[in-house]
Amino acid sequence: MPFAPAEFTRAMARVPGPVTVATTVDAAGQRWGFTASSFSSLSLSPPLVLICLDKGASTHEAFATTDRFMINILRGEQSDIALRFAKSGVDRFADGDAVPLELGLPGIPEALVRVACSLEQVVDGGDHSILIGRVEATYTGDGAPLIYCDRGFQRLAE
Ligand SMILES: Cc1cc2nc3c(=O)[nH]c(=O)nc-3n(C[C@H](O)[C@H](O)[C@H](O)COP(=O)(O)O)c2cc1C
Repeated sequence: MPFAPAEFTRAMARVPGPVTVATTVDAAGQRWGFTASSFSSLSLSPPLVLICLDKGASTHEAFATTDRFMINILRGEQSDIALRFAKSGVDRFADGDAVPLELGLPGIPEALVRVACSLEQVVDGGDHSILIGRVEATYTGDGAPLIYCDRGFQRLAE
């Protein structure tokens, strides 16, 4: 059977993932952010996490050249934030729900979990870059995460 990219994406759509918003700020003070379900922890010693970013994304240069970034893991009721940070051509920060938090990075105070990192390495991953972050600070709240599966948002029972 020849490999079918559509089959690959159909299969991957079935795999549940977290819904996160990655944020950073550039040297000019401009904030950048995008919704990502590709977040994963990577290593305990040293503490590393990763997130994959499309090389064609408008945020790619900012994240690939930053010295630090934040991952906000969203709660079940925060799908509106996920949609806004995935939208092209809008000011994703316009709603004012991100404020300077750990490491001074833009963070969502009501996020379920925040992971603030220094950028450890950018690894080539085909049409994506794998951003590896060294964990500098974490915040853990109570509640249930938002899940992305079958191309839609789902909530876990609390
Ligand atoms: C639930 C969800 C998960 C996403 N996960 C990723 C991801 O892991 N990596 C990525 O590069 N883009 C991901 N995206 C797409 C980006 O959020 C964004 O829409 C894309 O980078 C286009 O943005 P641009 O207009 O800034 O180029 C995801 C979008 C949604 C709605």
